[in-house]
Amino acid sequence: MQEQIQKLSEEIDKVVADTRDSLESYRLKFISKKGVISQLFDEFRGLSGEEKKKVGKALNELKQAAEERFKSLQDTLESKKGQGDIDIDLTLPPVEEQIGNLHPLNLTRYKIIQIFERLGFNVSDGPEIEDDWHNFSALNFPENHPAREMQDTFFIEKNPDMLLRTHTSNVQIRLMGKQKPPIRSIMPGRVYRNEAISARAHCFFHQVEGLYVDRNVSFADLKQTLYHFAKEMYGKDIQIRFRPSFFPFTEPSAEIDISCLICYGDGCTVCKHSGWVEIAGSGMVHPNVLKNCGIDPEEYTGFAFGMGIERVTQLRYRVNDLRLYSENDIRFLKQFKSVI
Ligand code: DAH
Repeated sequence: MQEQIQKLSEEIDKVVADTRDSLESYRLKFISKKGVISQLFDEFRGLSGEEKKKVGKALNELKQAAEERFKSLQDTLESKKGQGDIDIDLTLPPVEEQIGNLHPLNLTRYKIIQIFERLGFNVSDGPEIEDDWHNFSALNFPENHPAREMQDTFFIEKNPDMLLRTHTSNVQIRLMGKQKPPIRSIMPGRVYRNEAISARAHCFFHQVEGLYVDRNVSFADLKQTLYHFAKEMYGKDIQIRFRPSFFPFTEPSAEIDISCLICYGDGCTVCKHSGWVEIAGSGMVHPNVLKNCGIDPEEYTGFAFGMGIERVTQLRYRVNDLRLYSENDIRFLKQFKSVI
């Protein structure tokens, strides 16, 4: 029996159990009531007193070693759980896939495009790094206009004629330069201004430019188009007003306000307690601008507008801080699961 004990003790030392099944086999073979050690105890009972003395201690030690080994194999298996492929519980619910969503500014941009496309406008694009002619001169900005000065415009150091466009109106010039009327186009894009970053201003933001040039285009067309836009974007109860204004590239010019959707006229910081929020500049394309693009102002007229996408989005979703749009904070972004 001594020999058997020795052999089993060596076997126990060498045993590996890296799955639940192999651990169970080990338990059945060494620990269970029908296992080999139990059998040895049965045999032990039939031995003479002399022989019992010889093997009793070793047999007890074997039993103890087998149990300790079982415990340590069990612990090792337990600690590996979750690290690998052991014990996959197929009944657990799956981890939900995180599907991204469109940025709120894109949601608004697509919505604006959708509205104007239905009115027969197409979508055009132009460069963000622009020259002075397309951003200012062709748009009838006088040589000494304050918008050209350093505090507003990011100029490109290597070439003083180049700058980051301050508005999307540059695309009007590019479009009229290569396409003759009728032109009916909207031009979304990013623009840059040298401003300190705050809740209300940022060094870059987004605009959508609109341009309609044809025979007999009138201010009434401009008003009706933008009125239609506001109703489509915000619902039929929205109010819109045109305020006389000035832009070098339009004559006459108007600022477009809509009723404040943050406070509904009660007064808040977004509408500066006026009940109205400015969403766009607009006007009839200045004859000089048409001439600069080779279009005869005697034959054609046109209207144009430039809308702030951040502003339109702010009123749509009640976002109160401009910085949220570019901070990439997932807690903000994941709230916009809506469709266009
Ligand atoms: N470019 C102007 C701005 O950035 C907005 C604007 C006003 C665009 C009148 C237009 C327009 O096309 O007709 O402030």
